[in-house]
Amino acid sequence: MRLANKLAVITAAASGMGLAGVELFLREGASVCAIDINQEALSALKADLDPSGERLHTVVADLEQPSGARDSIHEAADKLGGIDILWAHAGIPGPGGIEGLDVGEYQQALALNVQSATFGAGEVIKHMRKRGSGSIIFTASVSGMVGSMWSPVYSSCKFAVVGLTKSLAQTFAPDNVRVNVVCPGLAETPMKVGFTGRGVSAEAAKAAEDKYTSAVPLGRLVQPHEVANAVLWLASDDAGFVTGIELPVDGGFTCK
Ligand SMILES: NC(=O)c1ccc[n+]([C@@H]2O[C@H](COP(=O)([O-])OP(=O)(O)OC[C@H]3O[C@@H](n4cnc5c(N)ncnc54)[C@H](O)[C@@H]3O)[C@@H](O)[C@H]2O)c1
Repeated sequence: MRLANKLAVITAAASGMGLAGVELFLREGASVCAIDINQEALSALKADLDPSGERLHTVVADLEQPSGARDSIHEAADKLGGIDILWAHAGIPGPGGIEGLDVGEYQQALALNVQSATFGAGEVIKHMRKRGSGSIIFTASVSGMVGSMWSPVYSSCKFAVVGLTKSLAQTFAPDNVRVNVVCPGLAETPMKVGFTGRGVSAEAAKAAEDKYTSAVPLGRLVQPHEVANAVLWLASDDAGFVTGIELPVDGGFTCK
């Protein structure tokens, strides 16, 4: 088992890729704290994966709020008895174009994509220092590596997350804490339509998805477990000398 006795926190953990991460990390021997805003989904997750409550803990938090992003890390550390791994996965597609951009929608995109990752990392480092090492993995996107034609706000947020990664990899290296970022392509999760279906018909959303897929050398969307597998590697000691990288899990979308 690659995460035996590790203490891991995953945000946005009640669905999609985060949920796949919870399942995988538990299978690999970690104790996990799942953070999400969806209390009902977290309760179902716990009942399903760890009814005895020995290795899976949950914290309900709104990570758009600075207090939620900060306090949830300390609550998770209390429940787990420390933190070795943080997968800061929370994010949202946000608005489409920028003409007549709504201030609230813009701020919400920044808050969940960038602010929550920044504030979470700023708190988790205190717990990792106590443990003598750690691994932080952020979630950006292929839109944090190449400009997205659909989502300029999202793209700028995810480029910021990549920048945060490269900066913190250096800042936290003296603490023996590695910092990396995973960059999924369009993924088969509930969030997918947030990218392809904003304000358009189901047919138009399908056409957008097909257009994207046709630009992927491996010719399909990424599955949640494939992203979780990449994060597992970054989290584990197998990647012990890997820090500051952006790891695309995109079927070759960004290699051209
Ligand atoms: N789905 C994609 O196509 C795709 C592609 C690349 C990157 N990403 C990134 O992956 C991450 C999540 O994607 P997913 O597809 O796994 O999502 P998902 O839609 O399956 O799950 C998102 C989770 O985030 C939670 N959440 C929403 N708002 C929250 C808040 N304010 N506070 C706490 N939790 C909140 C939801 O309750 C849900 O459990 C985001 O960072 C996203 O930008 C997604």
